[in-house]
Amino acid sequence: MMEAFAMRRVDVIDTAAAITRETVEGRHVLVMDVLRATSTIVTALNNGAKRIIPVETVEEAVALKRRCADSLLGGERGGVRPEGFDFGNSPLEYSKDAVQNKTIVLTTTNGTRALVGCQSAHAATIGCAGFLNGKAAVRRLTAKTGDLALVCAGTKDRFSLDDFLCAGMLLQQIMAEEEVQMADLGWNALLLYQAYGESLPAVLDNAKHYQVLKGLGFHEDLEYCLMKNQLEIAPVFDGNEIRID
Ligand code: MLT
Repeated sequence: MMEAFAMRRVDVIDTAAAITRETVEGRHVLVMDVLRATSTIVTALNNGAKRIIPVETVEEAVALKRRCADSLLGGERGGVRPEGFDFGNSPLEYSKDAVQNKTIVLTTTNGTRALVGCQSAHAATIGCAGFLNGKAAVRRLTAKTGDLALVCAGTKDRFSLDDFLCAGMLLQQIMAEEEVQMADLGWNALLLYQAYGESLPAVLDNAKHYQVLKGLGFHEDLEYCLMKNQLEIAPVFDGNEIRID
């Protein structure tokens, strides 16, 4: 008798607040904060940063830098660089010249919080994804066995359209390789991406965080973070640091 073929489950988690043991424990997850934390992480590692240590608070970041003298501090609060930090959260700041072989301690409002949250909730593995490295991140994920979760960082515990559309792109890539089981939220992300994936800047111009970053003058970041499949890397957070897998 042929063995029944069990499709794996892929769930979309819509905000960092929804990361719990129930939603991510034992799953391989990809965390997305398209604007801009995971776009910054993949860019810095692609440009040669040795490792990135994500932490939740500015205070933790400063204390860690004291213990790790050759590290650099990066991140944002309210979208802008905290006082005394070496970098803000613009991926374009993390050039080869600036980051090669460096350790970067990173703290952002939602993205690093989502990464640390997945670790606390016992995810099996934690990858970092955005539009920039979608294909590579999915390739790493589908090579694994077991259920998956696509974690949208969101903005201050609220739904964020940029992350949700990215989840739709990742789902489309996963479903090009295999059939999966998903709930209505996953179908919603997929259908939305299929409808609007070719007009991201126009659609996201209605989104709150996109507007906030536009207001702060980060036009180039917005254009850059929405570019698809430019980087062939799949960074992984092992609970201490993020490196290229
Ligand atoms: C975050 O983690 O909240 C974001 O990356 C904020 C930002 O755009 O800098």
